[in-house]
Amino acid sequence: MEITVTVNGVARTAEVEPRTLLVYFVREHLGLTGTNVGCDTSSCGACTLHLDGESVKSCTVLAVQADGCEVTTIEGLAPSDTEMHPMQQAFQNEHGLQCGYCTPGMVMAAVSLLEENPAPTEREVRLGLEGNLCRCTGYHNIVKAVLACAEQPVAEPARAGSGGAA
Ligand code: FES
Ligand code: FES
Repeated sequence: MEITVTVNGVARTAEVEPRTLLVYFVREHLGLTGTNVGCDTSSCGACTLHLDGESVKSCTVLAVQADGCEVTTIEGLAPSDTEMHPMQQAFQNEHGLQCGYCTPGMVMAAVSLLEENPAPTEREVRLGLEGNLCRCTGYHNIVKAVLACAEQPVAEPARAGSGGAA
């Protein structure tokens, strides 16, 4: 099936099989490998991206379901190649990553969390990110990073033509 999805501000048209998952469309058709696959069974959150502004686990969505929609991946979050999104900066400042495998999904989920609740408590951050697993168990600093970022304005400027990873 032919689908057209606006990804990080750019309309992308591709032929996909009806069973293709959104995460594989993003990674394999578009080469945006910042979105990771951790489990393929909706358990880990490594594949989290934004679909029409909502945080979703992209291994639970068919690519054809995203036809006509807007997707933001971790590559499209930063405002420029030389500037990080405030959430990415907060993760760096607070050492909110170890191996980094969960990080793109954590960051995307955390941005959504603050959009819904701009001033969360620590408990609310922990509850809000409970669908995202960190195999390095770095939760303490991840939560610190989200709380630190909550003190700044968080916007999500979808950036056209982006290609780098987190
Ligand atoms: Fe999608 Fe784990 S790869 S939730
Ligand atoms: Fe390694 Fe989270 S930093 S899985």
